[in-house]
Amino acid sequence: MAEVILKEVSKRYKKSDQLSVKKISLEIKDKEFMVFVGPSGCGKSTTLRMIAGLEQVTEGGIYIGDKLVNDVPPKNRDIAMVFQNYALYPNMDVYENMAFGMWIRKVEKYVIESTVKSAARTLEIEHLLERKPSALSGGQRQRVALGRAIVRKPQVFLMDEPLSNLDAKLRVQMREEIIGLHRRLETTFIYVTHDQIEAMTMGTRICVMKDGIIQQVDTPENIYNSPANQFVASFIGSPPMNFLPGKIIEKKSGCFFDTKRFALPISQDLNEPLAAGNFIDRAIVMGIRPEHIVQKRDMETGSAVKAKVRFTELVGADRFVHLETGDYRFTMRATSHERFGDDSELEIVFKPEHMNFFHPETGVAVR
Ligand SMILES: Nc1ncnc2c1ncn2[C@@H]1O[C@H](COP(=O)(O)OP(=O)(O)OP(=O)(O)O)[C@@H](O)[C@H]1O
Ligand SMILES: [Mg+2]
Repeated sequence: MAEVILKEVSKRYKKSDQLSVKKISLEIKDKEFMVFVGPSGCGKSTTLRMIAGLEQVTEGGIYIGDKLVNDVPPKNRDIAMVFQNYALYPNMDVYENMAFGMWIRKVEKYVIESTVKSAARTLEIEHLLERKPSALSGGQRQRVALGRAIVRKPQVFLMDEPLSNLDAKLRVQMREEIIGLHRRLETTFIYVTHDQIEAMTMGTRICVMKDGIIQQVDTPENIYNSPANQFVASFIGSPPMNFLPGKIIEKKSGCFFDTKRFALPISQDLNEPLAAGNFIDRAIVMGIRPEHIVQKRDMETGSAVKAKVRFTELVGADRFVHLETGDYRFTMRATSHERFGDDSELEIVFKPEHMNFFHPETGVAVR
């Protein structure tokens, strides 16, 4: 069990003129489940591989426990890594795949046997121990790869998109199994994915990355409710947050978000930061999640805006209603029971307490 600390870590690959990871600092606590999430190429795998010792750190320091490990070879870091492609030995059966690392380390036979059996029990693959990987389903191979990591009893588990080869149903099942595994093993987990649902459901904290830079590190709730910038706001959440450009104006009763078509009162607690950030009479971007746009009839207060229904999408229990008013287009989340005719007109309310504001050029959230 150990914490993992990154201090201003950068990575430049050989022959590359750019940094793939740019001075990132992060403290991952002991027993935490930290998820790295971000679009393709943002540096998630590079960061994980540097923690594993599979890539050299160009600048900065990586600490596992309280030890600087920059020059410690992977096998001495007390970590186990599970990859997307599982990398099982095809000629060995499941038992041998899991036992292999211990054979190399000359662990006693009876210890190997009880360790493998206990891991197999945890993962419910006891009945598969004599099978070769080619005779296993994707999900079963996945479990063997996890088993191989578990038997090492590492201080830290590193996983790089381990579920991306599985079908949707199996992913959900394995997701739950990995969460359960984390609870049982009480070990630090660092998990890489580009799937925001995986990030939201699995992480105790999420680290959102873009272009080699950490955008925000926080709990799933805080990432969702108070995104640090427009990138995080649009990357996490489906359908994504709606963004409406406009202007802040100040009236006697407080600040308003003003567009050419309507002006909406802003939650009192944002008046001060908006004034402090010099946003009065200046351009701004308002962000609001689809579930925080509601029909007027559902609300007691709030100033209504008229909007036309462009089209709707039924997604399970939700119905996404795509709306338009003037040049603005946005999406409202309704329930599947509610029906809306194309081109019909609605009176909608943007819930003031759920409006987020972002700097129009930098995208940084006003707080
Ligand atoms: N061996 C390498 N040599 C040079 N550049 C590399 C190497 N590996 C990765 N890169 C570059 O570093 C950047 C980060 O890559 P990385 O693999 O860490 O991204 P990622 O976030 O894991 O993406 P994905 O979701 O596609 O796996 C990319 O621009 C990539 O092209
Ligand atoms: Mg990757």
